[in-house]
Amino acid sequence: MESINVLKGYGKVNSTLENKGPHHSKTIRKSLIVASLLLTLIIGLMLAALIYESNTEPSESESDSPSLSSASNSVNSIKTVCNVTRYPASCFTSISSVNVSIKPDPEAIFKLSLQISVKELKNVSSLFRTLNDANSKAAINDCVSIFDEALGRLNDSLSAMEVGPGEKALTLEKINDIQTWISGAMTDQQTCVDGLEEMGSTVLDEVKAKMKNSTEFLSNSLAIVAQMQSLLEKFDLKMH
Ligand SMILES: *[C@@H]1O[C@H](CO)[C@@H](O)[C@H](O)[C@H]1NC(C)=O
Ligand SMILES: *[C@@H]1O[C@H](CO)[C@@H](O)[C@H](O)[C@H]1NC(C)=O
Ligand SMILES: *[C@@H]1O[C@H](CO)[C@@H](O)[C@H](O)[C@H]1NC(C)=O
Ligand SMILES: *[C@@H]1O[C@H](CO)[C@@H](O)[C@H](O)[C@H]1NC(C)=O
Ligand SMILES: *[C@@H]1O[C@H](CO)[C@@H](O)[C@H](O)[C@H]1NC(C)=O
Repeated sequence: MESINVLKGYGKVNSTLENKGPHHSKTIRKSLIVASLLLTLIIGLMLAALIYESNTEPSESESDSPSLSSASNSVNSIKTVCNVTRYPASCFTSISSVNVSIKPDPEAIFKLSLQISVKELKNVSSLFRTLNDANSKAAINDCVSIFDEALGRLNDSLSAMEVGPGEKALTLEKINDIQTWISGAMTDQQTCVDGLEEMGSTVLDEVKAKMKNSTEFLSNSLAIVAQMQSLLEKFDLKMH
């Protein structure tokens, strides 16, 4: 049907052209040829773009997933929240690798960041039980109890966020408490390092290296909770 109409159309053009003398008809024919060449070129480019896209996008990537918008929403939310931290890259990587479809809510993202800090602190803590340095045995033992204390502070912070369904977890008072507890946990880590340093411990560098991530995670959690109010405003959410 379509092709017939197209042919009819051409017939019409040609018959009107014939009435208008050779010069006109040539010019119009030329522009018709140029137009169809352009059209071919455009269609070709569009096809090329389509083929390029389907080749570059891995088939399993989000394409048909119904959660596409919510997933990218989460990713952007994590980025926005992590942007207030001193280590946005470690913040984003650690959080998105645990839950890439977290609720786009700074409180939920903060809570996850805190859970990641706890996990990492436990990881560091378990290192002390494997370390062997006769000269700094006492300092290493101190580190074990200092880390228990730090984990207690973080546990208190997580407990403070446990509320009934529909309730907002954070109040200004809780935010203040949680900042104090996380700062305390950061100080605890430093106290442990200082103790090892004083004893001239041979495991000092190993411990410091092992604490790199936990130090960053704690710093990230602290920055997020410290900016919770402005983050909630950014997300058009409010605190209780
Ligand atoms: C990150 O924060 C800076 C200011 O601290 C701001 O200029 C920038 O737009 C923010 N980026 C994102 C992605 O939110
Ligand atoms: C990720 O977060 C969403 C919403 O916050 C939650 O429903 C889901 O259970 C979480 N998934 C994991 C693996 O924690
Ligand atoms: C614990 O530390 C090791 C490196 O010592 C690391 O490979 C592992 O990912 C860490 N685990 C967690 C949960 O961070
Ligand atoms: C963490 O907090 C909960 C609730 O307050 C408590 O029952 C639990 O014993 C605490 N765990 C640690 C390791 O402090
Ligand atoms: C810190 O985290 C990075 C990224 O997850 C990981 O590759 C590295 O092994 C971690 N370092 C330690 C000391 O756990």
